[in-house]
Amino acid sequence: MRIAILTSGGDAPGMNAAIRAVVRSAIYKDIEVYGIYEGYEGLIDAKFEKMVEASVADIIQRGGTILRTSRSERFMTEEGFQKALNSLKIFEIDVLIACGGDGTLRGAKKLSEAGVNVIGIPCSIDNDLAYTDYTIGFMTAVKTVTEAVSNIRDTTESHGRANVVEVMGRSCGDIALYSGVSSGAESIIIPEKEFNINEIAEKALIGKNRGKRHHIILMAEGRGSAFDFAKDFENLTGIDTKVTVLGYLQRGGAPSIFDRILASEMGYRAVEEAEHLNSSAIATNDGHIRTMPFEEIYEMKKEFRDDLLEILKTVSI
Ligand code: F6P
Repeated sequence: MRIAILTSGGDAPGMNAAIRAVVRSAIYKDIEVYGIYEGYEGLIDAKFEKMVEASVADIIQRGGTILRTSRSERFMTEEGFQKALNSLKIFEIDVLIACGGDGTLRGAKKLSEAGVNVIGIPCSIDNDLAYTDYTIGFMTAVKTVTEAVSNIRDTTESHGRANVVEVMGRSCGDIALYSGVSSGAESIIIPEKEFNINEIAEKALIGKNRGKRHHIILMAEGRGSAFDFAKDFENLTGIDTKVTVLGYLQRGGAPSIFDRILASEMGYRAVEEAEHLNSSAIATNDGHIRTMPFEEIYEMKKEFRDDLLEILKTVSI
């Protein structure tokens, strides 16, 4: 039996740990395993390389992806898609394991509809997939943002300022929500909820009157411009307000312990599923690793953690 693995879309810390788990689990089961470089682009161009035990040595702790990645526009075309199918045929791949976020899993679904056995492993800092509680990389991004906010808080406190910190997440507010709770941010602005700038300003002024000298507002990138918000907030409150866009800082770095364990569990499970020639997406739900048919994963609506938002509002005053 022969399987192949690729990583695609935005990279996420923990992708390497997932690659390691897949390669080592496959070798343990006498399954031949190929790495495909640069995601679906590399699948189209047949950039395959046989992986051995040593190919994945010393990578569990590394951010990024040793298989590299891409956002492939060619894969979206009929010609590119047919080339991708052909590469899998030429290399006689029985099962493809695709690691990535929303776009990657949509690509995996399309391949499975074309008759390929595909297993999807959810990797994205955004945590924007409804069918799994967590995506690999998300908790590391939350840790990175939390540490960055601690530093920003030091200087914000010294100067008696406000700082609007823009975080990634596309149309999902989870990075802002979870980092907001873990960093003690006073307010968060996220795509899932309406916000009222007057209420945020009032909260800051009440804090200021109590002697508070720092005001941290986390703003999800999918909610608009942090610079526009900061200007309006400064006009309303009279508090000197700065902006920090954390950007790609959030996508790199050593994966957290949570992500290393999740990636190992999911990679191991992906090979078990591959052995049965299944097509499915791997998930973690209520602490258990599960699988779900591709047809079902996009029928689900992501549950928003209103409980976490309530905690943030109650304790960050
Ligand atoms: O999906 C992960 C992500 O980092 C998003 O949070 C962000 O909007 C996007 O990727 C950035 O993509 P790119 O690397 O293509 O600029």
